[in-house]
Amino acid sequence: MPGVPTTLRAMVEGAGTWAAAVGSVQGGTPVAEVVAGLLEAMTPDEKLWCLDGDLPFWAGLGDLGEGGYHKRTFPAARVERLGIPGFAFSDGPRGVVIGPATCFPVSMARGAAWDLELEERIGDAIGTELRSVGADLFGGVCVNVLRHPAWGRAQETYGEDPFHVGELGAALVRGVQRHAMACVKHLACNSMENARFEVDVAVDEVALHEVFLPQFRRIVDEGVAVVMTAYNALNGEWCGQNRPLLTQILRDEWGFSGFAISDWIFGLRDAGLSLTAGLDVEMPYQMVRAGGLDAALADGATSWEDVDRSVAHVLATLLRFSGVLAAERPGSDVLASPAHRALAREAAAKSVVLLRNEPVDGVPVLPLDPARLQRVALLGALADIRNLGDGGSSDVWAESVVTPAAGLRLALGGVELTLDDGTDATRAGVVAADADVAVVVVGYTKDDEGEFIGAGGTNTALQALMPGPDDPDLAARFTDSVAANPGPEPPAGLAAAGPLTFSTGGDRSSLRLHRSDEDLIAAVVAANPRTVVVLVAGSAVLTPWADDVPAVLQGFYGGMEGGHGLADVLVGRRSPGGRLPFSVPTDEAHLPPFDHEATVCTYDRWHGWWKLERDGHPARFPFGWGLTYSGFEWGEFSANVADGVLEVTGSVTNTGGHTAAEVVQVYGAAASFPDQPRRLVGFARLEVAPGAGAEVTIRVPLSLLAARDAAAARWVLPQGRVDLEMARHVGDPRSQRVTVEVPD
Ligand code: BGC
Repeated sequence: MPGVPTTLRAMVEGAGTWAAAVGSVQGGTPVAEVVAGLLEAMTPDEKLWCLDGDLPFWAGLGDLGEGGYHKRTFPAARVERLGIPGFAFSDGPRGVVIGPATCFPVSMARGAAWDLELEERIGDAIGTELRSVGADLFGGVCVNVLRHPAWGRAQETYGEDPFHVGELGAALVRGVQRHAMACVKHLACNSMENARFEVDVAVDEVALHEVFLPQFRRIVDEGVAVVMTAYNALNGEWCGQNRPLLTQILRDEWGFSGFAISDWIFGLRDAGLSLTAGLDVEMPYQMVRAGGLDAALADGATSWEDVDRSVAHVLATLLRFSGVLAAERPGSDVLASPAHRALAREAAAKSVVLLRNEPVDGVPVLPLDPARLQRVALLGALADIRNLGDGGSSDVWAESVVTPAAGLRLALGGVELTLDDGTDATRAGVVAADADVAVVVVGYTKDDEGEFIGAGGTNTALQALMPGPDDPDLAARFTDSVAANPGPEPPAGLAAAGPLTFSTGGDRSSLRLHRSDEDLIAAVVAANPRTVVVLVAGSAVLTPWADDVPAVLQGFYGGMEGGHGLADVLVGRRSPGGRLPFSVPTDEAHLPPFDHEATVCTYDRWHGWWKLERDGHPARFPFGWGLTYSGFEWGEFSANVADGVLEVTGSVTNTGGHTAAEVVQVYGAAASFPDQPRRLVGFARLEVAPGAGAEVTIRVPLSLLAARDAAAARWVLPQGRVDLEMARHVGDPRSQRVTVEVPD
């Protein structure tokens, strides 16, 4: 083995090979050299084996249909002869999908918390739980920007703004990667659900780099191990075989050194092209590549250099994480441990956004004061059901779930709580009239929005990707291993509560509540002016009724402790501290068009708060909006620039009577790019006690205000004047503005 370090040359070719490779890296041998040695030790078949999932297609699919998704990992790139461990994938993002893990609030809820430190702690908890169920790659870092609230998987990402989404995703990765590898997805422009296998998204250089990719780049810079490609096509080619995306952008421009995997089952269509384009591993089964790579290598559509390059990406990443992954796996007692449940509750409370809180008879309806209440009516179909969100790939088997009713009952102590499922609006009105306060919990479930499972049934191009019968040996080995290791049983009661596999989900058919929910709200508020509406949804809900209701909260799928988190806010144990991570328009027509069945679709830079601001359409509730039970005064903010970084400093004082959070948001515009919309470039969430103040410094690298030069395909930094606005939300009338001169 010329050029290969002696330690490796001396390695016996056998199960000790990997251990020797890890030892070499730990001893200081450059990873590239060690990888070269490993490649020499591998047979051609072993290399090809690393380029797709380890499981046979049909047996794997059968297992998936029987709940296997929640019982075992998806393994890939494991080479037993050489001891190469490969990787074992499990999904998220609201927790680990295998076993009775902690179900955290969905990502969109965590986006509403605007709390990077919290997100990192959640990542840390998820990383620990992930390792305990036998996995080492977490697939739950979903950061596609919310281009339209109808997107069925809106709840899996953090919001509509790429900077905000990128910071949250990077925080999650930091936490997870203390224990395991993380995978960011879905590269790129995956923000429609029903059409995800069919749609070709056309997007120009500027919109792509300034709006749809910055959060991926941020997370690559954070050191994420793995990138998952999207199902859709981008500018004429499927993302799983898109060379400009996977090689020019991801590798050459961003310097990504991890490995790229496809999305599940239909993530690529052409074995050879996917490899030359830069996709490293087809997931999760032996499928397109198993049937097509040999021929592609024979006819020159791809090459052994391509094979080696991709295998090298996998090996180098596994070596980079070998120290982290050498840590002993925690026991199953970490799953939904008291500490993780407490974290889930904290996240649930911090994510609730108070949209409105008007006085009735001179007193705001919230917080509820149990000492002054005798009877509370809790109404609505979602008030007392297990409602954790998507029933597709992000589904988590929570052992037990605190519903809003359970949380509120406990928080209200001796106050009588009358529950009504709201199916009969007239009856609900009677119940509400008899109470001091009426709380209505309405919105969606996994039947209204979520991953669209079951698509492809009529798509002949997808059906043609299905392989022939499994290799019998492989299938038998898999079936035996499942029999020997059946995996965790579903938590008690879950099997009875619904099917163990997937729901149908899909894009939302309307941005409004169900008609029955709107009728319920109208009946309740007519019967009791002290009405609180809690919206349960993955993203924006149009609220034409909001002016008639004194108190409105945007809740989300709040996770297994969601009921406690919500109750903490309703009774004022915690001031609501969430801020909308998306805009709520007054009219769906103010959003970009959304065609569920699109086969082609153009994405430009105008969606969310950018579009509303450009078009002069005030939002019903703007991006960044959220009230508290307290009040804040701001000191004067100032900014200066040094070494390519703008530094914004200021202070806030809590002038009210509750500990509460203020979220300072910095929006910037560079005079050198007059055509470019301004951007969110920084934020800080500050938790402040009553009467206390907090200093804040927000650092904004000038690169966040760079413009993409389409012709040269490169970034141009701003020069001259930069206008900064420090605000509580988009369109804040009390914002502060400062101007900074950037030296040439
Ligand atoms: C989803 C991915 C997910 C994968 C594996 C796919 O259906 O699109 O987001 O990671 O399944 O669970």
